[in-house]
Amino acid sequence: MQTDTIDTQPYNDQNPGTSGLRKKVRTFQQVGYLENFVQSIFDSLENYSGKTLVLGGDGRYFNREAIQTIIKMAAANGFGELIIGQGGLLSTPAASHVIRKYQAFGGLILSASHNPGGPDEDFGIKYNVGNGGPAPEKYTQSFYRRSQSITSYKIARFDDVDLDTLGSQQAGELKITILDPVADYADLMQSIFDFSLLKQTIGSGFITLLFDAMHAITGPYAKRILVDMLGASPESVINATPLEDFGGHHPDPNLAHARELAERMFGPEAPVFGAASDGDGDRNMITGSNIFVTPSDSLAIMAANAHLIPGYAKGIAGVARSMPTSQAVDRVAAHYKIPCYETPTGWKFFGNLLDAGRITLCGEESFGTGSDHVREKDGLWAVLFWLNLIARRRQSVADIVHEHWQKFGRDIYCRHDYEAVETSIADGIVEYLRAQLPALPGQSFGEYTVKYADEFRYEDPVDGSISQNQGIRIGFENGSRIVYRLSGTGTVGATLRIYLEKFEPDAAKHHQDAQEALAELIGLAEHFGEVKKRTGRAGPDVTT
Ligand code: G1P
Ligand code: ZN
Repeated sequence: MQTDTIDTQPYNDQNPGTSGLRKKVRTFQQVGYLENFVQSIFDSLENYSGKTLVLGGDGRYFNREAIQTIIKMAAANGFGELIIGQGGLLSTPAASHVIRKYQAFGGLILSASHNPGGPDEDFGIKYNVGNGGPAPEKYTQSFYRRSQSITSYKIARFDDVDLDTLGSQQAGELKITILDPVADYADLMQSIFDFSLLKQTIGSGFITLLFDAMHAITGPYAKRILVDMLGASPESVINATPLEDFGGHHPDPNLAHARELAERMFGPEAPVFGAASDGDGDRNMITGSNIFVTPSDSLAIMAANAHLIPGYAKGIAGVARSMPTSQAVDRVAAHYKIPCYETPTGWKFFGNLLDAGRITLCGEESFGTGSDHVREKDGLWAVLFWLNLIARRRQSVADIVHEHWQKFGRDIYCRHDYEAVETSIADGIVEYLRAQLPALPGQSFGEYTVKYADEFRYEDPVDGSISQNQGIRIGFENGSRIVYRLSGTGTVGATLRIYLEKFEPDAAKHHQDAQEALAELIGLAEHFGEVKKRTGRAGPDVTT
């Protein structure tokens, strides 16, 4: 096998964000851009010679091309085997599982998650370590450092590999195995959930369902699992064919982007259960007939009911949530006397807790929930969890949610996003907030008295690593919170996220509209951050 060492110049913007390096496709198409980043990853890793790397992506535009380049670079850099999803496809949770199951050294996942795809849209690349989870910060920081001084990359010379035929082939010393991207994952799901109960409950018509794959990676997974294995009707999976541009839409599972699903779930004759997943299959949105379940509530409800699911029947060790996620799960943890951890935003912070066996379930307000079965959040897993729950409790989604609120109280919650804000304005808002923090505690604003005001800092209880500046928090005596943070996944300007939360113990007040119930807090968030004033916007671009 002939390999070439190609001279290159560093790019100065290859700093991975919340979840890998995400840029416009055009940025990735610059000469040596992808190659530099991949080589920077390989240069930062040690002792992988002869070992296995998993490779796959969400099928977005540039996926196949990037995979061919990475195959040749992996060969030149001395990997022994590549395991690649057929067609270059692997959902993020399936990739995590494949890394674990085949005890691979690590994996490269090509995705920009819920960001749009296509020649003028986004692409991304993320390295996952041997536990199947996203590389922790010490890795991503060294990838970035390396990318700033890189002078060459290595690439082998051979023809493009056939990605579509299952089985193993040899390219020089490198063994390449193309595997069915769904099979191992489907087996794993079958080992966690009660498939025979689900089959029966779907077959009897007690559960009717609608799943929106948003023209993204979960289409083939949902068809195999929900339709072929569990007997749901083929029409219950919509937008099931993965497309390179996701049909021109944002593959982001929320009520705004999963519009068809939202219309049907809030229309007449809505199915019992509705859900959607994102570009790479790690996010989930859960709805029932005429009800939307916030991801924060979903996590809490899962934690409270985990014992009803065969895979968690023995009980759960603990739970974790990202800092801006509502405190609903904290109440469940307190009730069951299990530990609850608060981590910075991003799935990579759950990895150590899961590996150490300190937690079993974890989640984020951004439509991410998961467990120790893999080391990524997992969209279809969450769907199956809810289906299993409905089948076991023989109750509607609305009844399950309302009973939960009655027992634990409701954490009324919402998030406001201001997208593509000029970076200097966004930084100015953060500076302005930061300057106010020391004086805020003790001050009262209407019924809200500030209890604490700080910048979230996390010390990992497993390895002691410290992450600073993880968002500004203003907490009130009555348990309400306002959190501000800048997104680490956007590709245009800055995205400012404002998270608002208010605890309502009184069941008589549980059925309020969140925006109305949070109106006073929303006003306070503007008072502290001057976001509308400084951005000149009338309101948020997205409310979830
Ligand atoms: C967003 C979400 C975060 C999630 C990440 C990857 O990151 O807020 O919870 O882990 O996407 O899906 P952000 O853009 O806020 O940095
Ligand atoms: Zn995703």
